[in-house]
Amino acid sequence: MSDFDLTGKVAIVTGGGRGIGLAIAEGLARHGATPVLAGRTEATLVRAAASIGQAASVQVADVAREPEVLALRDAVLDRHRRIDVLVNNAGINPIFRGIERTSLGDWQSIIDINLTGTFLCCKHIGQAMVDQGRGSIINISSVAGHVGLLRSVPYCASKGGVEMLTRALALDWAKRGVRVNTLAPGWVDTDLTHGLLEHDVHGKRLLDHTPMGRFAAAGDMVGAAVFLASDASAYMTGQSLLIDGGWTAD
Ligand SMILES: NC(=O)c1ccc[n+]([C@@H]2O[C@H](COP(=O)([O-])OP(=O)(O)OC[C@H]3O[C@@H](n4cnc5c(N)ncnc54)[C@H](OP(=O)(O)O)[C@@H]3O)[C@@H](O)[C@H]2O)c1
Repeated sequence: MSDFDLTGKVAIVTGGGRGIGLAIAEGLARHGATPVLAGRTEATLVRAAASIGQAASVQVADVAREPEVLALRDAVLDRHRRIDVLVNNAGINPIFRGIERTSLGDWQSIIDINLTGTFLCCKHIGQAMVDQGRGSIINISSVAGHVGLLRSVPYCASKGGVEMLTRALALDWAKRGVRVNTLAPGWVDTDLTHGLLEHDVHGKRLLDHTPMGRFAAAGDMVGAAVFLASDASAYMTGQSLLIDGGWTAD
């Protein structure tokens, strides 16, 4: 059996209805896992689960709302009796503007979902893994958790927070069977970024700065996610895998 095999493992993917989350859920399923897709929009989740196949299921949950995270955990435990993998992928970046034009509300909405949502899912869903004595948490960070991006103060702060949350939690749970790592994508063409990446000026600037000379597809994130979810990374915790076409090597 391959070290990358995920047969019998139950994997929650937040934001699993589209984009990077859906690609990762599909990839985990291809390696044998049973994915549970979580997000705020039921119709999108149902469509995504149908595209993956019979084993996938859905749970409506806003990761920024603690009671909904608890309900997500309890529903998955009721349904499957175990949670082996948690991919904290739900995230937003609705603004690109300087701090002068960034309101407290802008800041708060991004921190609430990207950072507090990751904290709540790690705390409550991760606790179920600690109780089992095993599990892998994959927090989806960004190159923006490692280097600054123009006009993106709240987003960079949120992803930098995810990076440090990951390292600190990895220490707390290192002897308890639960590994915690981040997967940090570069520029991936999804609903989140499509307008920017297609932009004549800004898109070209980003492409020129990407050593591999292309933006990623969501599927480019799958190999690293399967690695982090599986026993192939059994001795790895508190680390960040940058899948960025060389962006941060520059
Ligand atoms: N695309 C990139 O270039 C890029 C680069 C680096 C990092 N990332 C990170 O990768 C992750 C996925 O990005 P993406 O590009 O795939 O974005 P996307 O296509 O916009 O998908 C985001 C997903 O998150 C869900 N979501 C948003 N807020 C949520 C909430 N409060 N609770 C639960 N689910 C929520 C959305 O579903 P609903 O709206 O239906 O809830 C959607 O399924 C994000 O964390 C993002 O920061 C993306």
